[in-house]
Amino acid sequence: MSEAHNEHESLIKTPKQLIAAVIAGFLVPIVIIVLLVNYVGNNALTGAGSSAMTEKAIAERIAPVAKVEVKDANAPRVYQTGEQLYKAVCAACHAAGTAGAPKVGSADWAPRIAQGYDEMLKIALAGKGAMPARGGTSPDDVTDYEIGRAIVYMANASGGKLQEPAEPAQPASGATAAAPASGAAPAADAGSAAAAAAAMASLKTAAPAAAGAGSNLEAGKKLYDTVCMACHASGVMNAPKFGDKAAWAPRIATGIDTLHNAALKGLNAMPPKGGAANASDDDVKAAVDYMVSAAK
Ligand code: HEC
Ligand code: HEC
Repeated sequence: MSEAHNEHESLIKTPKQLIAAVIAGFLVPIVIIVLLVNYVGNNALTGAGSSAMTEKAIAERIAPVAKVEVKDANAPRVYQTGEQLYKAVCAACHAAGTAGAPKVGSADWAPRIAQGYDEMLKIALAGKGAMPARGGTSPDDVTDYEIGRAIVYMANASGGKLQEPAEPAQPASGATAAAPASGAAPAADAGSAAAAAAAMASLKTAAPAAAGAGSNLEAGKKLYDTVCMACHASGVMNAPKFGDKAAWAPRIATGIDTLHNAALKGLNAMPPKGGAANASDDDVKAAVDYMVSAAK
């Protein structure tokens, strides 16, 4: 017992150590108290001037609510076109054939197209081998309809002649009527995915209004940019390349009516209307005129 007592006393032997121990005995609790006061004080500051009420902090806090509003069930949903979804997601593998994915524009697609659209959709939704279900997207962000459109886009850029899947019913709303009314011109230079989708949706209705001589090439360019370029920009399956005078000269020599008819009815690997079954005849002809004018 007395030994333990001695050991305890031996911790402080000199006056220096005693002073240090006394100072530490006071300072440590004071430092802790100061830190605690600061901590509590910071958290309690919720009034004006505190960081909790800055615009950024508020925006962050209400962000989930704002996101829900975007998906308001009453707003007509703007669907991505097959091309948009393909470029945003599917191209990661399907453009170059990464991981054994059937490459767009190649013969890899022929046996798959032969299986039929329903089977391809089933596999794309469920996944298979290195192909992730839905291409890795969530059903909250990308609908089955959009996946279907991307499949049609890829298959038709690879020799297929599939029809676009039917658009799911939208809640009735004035906005669908507003899209054609807003016309083609603003959508064309807005550049956003939504504007492009709206432009596609309004294609049919907007076309007659754009039939004037000056805007004809514009309507043609629009259809070319959304549909025909899939093959004609890079010459997929030997499609005559846009602006390639040598490739176009012999075709132009057959006369514009021949070219119009080929584009409307299809020619070998070229699907009727380039696969855009819902494009108007006038727009398809305008797209031909646009392509021809760029190759003269
Ligand atoms: C991570 C790479 C990857 C991504 C991203 C991807 N795919 Fe695939 N996909 C594959 C691979 C690999 C296969 C071949 C699977 C097999 O046959 O084993 C495939 C096959 C397919 C097939 C053919 C199915 C059949 O009938 O055999 C379809 C259709 C398809 N993908 C659609 C899509 C769509 C639509 C997207 C975009 C939403 C997409 N893929 C994104 C890798 C990918
Ligand atoms: C899936 C790929 C693909 C798409 C999409 C496509 N084309 Fe073609 N197109 C081709 C191919 C391949 C040829 C060459 C056909 C041949 O000569 O055998 C061709 C040829 C043509 C020709 C020349 C026809 C002739 O008589 O020589 C015109 C005109 C044409 N396409 C217009 C269009 C227009 C307009 C669109 C968009 C609405 C379009 N194409 C979309 C693949 C495509």
